[in-house]
Amino acid sequence: MTSSDHTGSTALVTGASRGFGRAIASALDADGAKVVAVARDAALLSSLHDELNGRLTTVVADVADPVVAGSLIEQHRPNTLVLNAGAQPLMRPIQYQTWQTFSRNWDVDVQHVFNWVREALLLPLDPGSTVVTMSSGAAVAGSPLSGGYAGAKAAIRFITEYAAGESERAGLGIRFVSLLPRLTTATDLGSMAVAAYAARDGLEVGEYLARLGPGLASEEVGKATVDLVASTEFAAGAYLLTPAGLSPVR
Ligand SMILES: NC(=O)c1ccc[n+]([C@@H]2O[C@H](COP(=O)([O-])OP(=O)(O)OC[C@H]3O[C@@H](n4cnc5c(N)ncnc54)[C@H](OP(=O)(O)O)[C@@H]3O)[C@@H](O)[C@H]2O)c1
Repeated sequence: MTSSDHTGSTALVTGASRGFGRAIASALDADGAKVVAVARDAALLSSLHDELNGRLTTVVADVADPVVAGSLIEQHRPNTLVLNAGAQPLMRPIQYQTWQTFSRNWDVDVQHVFNWVREALLLPLDPGSTVVTMSSGAAVAGSPLSGGYAGAKAAIRFITEYAAGESERAGLGIRFVSLLPRLTTATDLGSMAVAAYAARDGLEVGEYLARLGPGLASEEVGKATVDLVASTEFAAGAYLLTPAGLSPVR
């Protein structure tokens, strides 16, 4: 599938300072979109701004804050909204979690998706807009060492489905899709998780990765996101992402 040209459109990406979000922001920029990158780390956002020759708009903010969601949606009215930001879970078996560590991804990942999706429906974004939320393969497979992470990512998939239903019911023409990438060491979050699972199985990281099979590169996540946004062949719904590409999750 080839990506279409996003020239003139605005894309807002949360968690764009590193990892998948940074690659998604770069891919949308390369596709011609005016990109707004939001995260808390000002230095990393500034380095991305330089990498993209100053074309990027950067906003230093906590995306779980409802005021940030409401004001940035009104200010930028993005045609493409990528809700990618996510906290790094504490990697420990369930009995070593506290309620606070267990619920970290609910407080950050789920709260941010809830706030921004709500604002996208209420504004509403223009017909033909697309909202992509970052769930995870863990939403299907579970993730026993990361507390509430897998449940939080499953909730994100449900919120996205509910929003797609509301968009259809009200004739808003906003497409809501969730992306479920498979675990990869390409990012800080993924590397930390793989190290924890390898240690639990008494394996070196390399041995564990050999068992896991080929991993996604961040650039593949960026390209898949552009493809998802560009083609209405990808109807509202959830899509698993592996190095073999995108496939719908039933
Ligand atoms: N890596 C994997 O294997 C994998 C697999 C499936 C799904 N995912 C999901 O993909 C998304 C990106 O993960 P990643 O692997 O790229 O992780 P990462 O390298 O740790 O990056 C996370 C990004 O989220 C931002 N962020 C976190 N909390 C934030 C907050 N409160 N406000 C604003 N920005 C915030 C971080 O920016 P600042 O720190 O600068 O704020 C950073 O840019 C996450 O939702 C993750 O759960 C990852």
